[in-house]
Amino acid sequence: MSMRDALLAAGFVFGGAVCALSAEAPKLGIPISPADVAAWDISVFPDGRGLPPGNGTARQGRALFDAQCARCHGAGGRGGTAEELAGSTSPLNGPDPDKTIGTYWPYATTVFDMTRRSMPMHAPGSLSNDEAYAVTAYLLFANKIIAEDFEINRESLPLVKMPNRDGFDRIDAP
Ligand code: HEC
Repeated sequence: MSMRDALLAAGFVFGGAVCALSAEAPKLGIPISPADVAAWDISVFPDGRGLPPGNGTARQGRALFDAQCARCHGAGGRGGTAEELAGSTSPLNGPDPDKTIGTYWPYATTVFDMTRRSMPMHAPGSLSNDEAYAVTAYLLFANKIIAEDFEINRESLPLVKMPNRDGFDRIDAP
């Protein structure tokens, strides 16, 4: 066999292999179902987009906070080993800035989003929507932003104006 014939033969075999491969479906996994997407699609935006149905008050959230959050965040959101959530003793522009939800966070909706997706730290995603609303209400109450019986839900939460709302340069919020 001449070199040319040998190359052609090799090319033919190679081409045959390519044809055989391309005849199979690409092995890229299986289509994701809408239900699978929905489980991950839980982002909440400052204007309230993404908030689910449900509601809760600080009075309802207090027991949940004591049972599931205080061991890390301290009683009332202060004095534990994890981030301080409430009870700031000095403002951000003071000599000893005390960063809490009340002094720092620009949007109340983020408290719900952060809590629902990632807390309690040992069991993220375990809170029902009503529980996440109630504990969000408790954290807003503990920061003296809402009253104890003010109902937090998908309509009222985006309307809560955080003390530091105007302390940030706008980058992506509507
Ligand atoms: C096992 C300890 C633990 C428990 C229990 C826990 N947290 Fe946390 N939490 C943390 C830690 C650690 C952080 C800081 C993590 C980070 O910033 O990524 C945090 C951060 C947070 C933040 C963001 C604070 C900030 O300023 O960035 C919020 C809000 C919060 N937790 C709420 C809760 C709520 C509500 C519960 C109860 C449902 C809870 N956590 C239970 C450990 C815990």
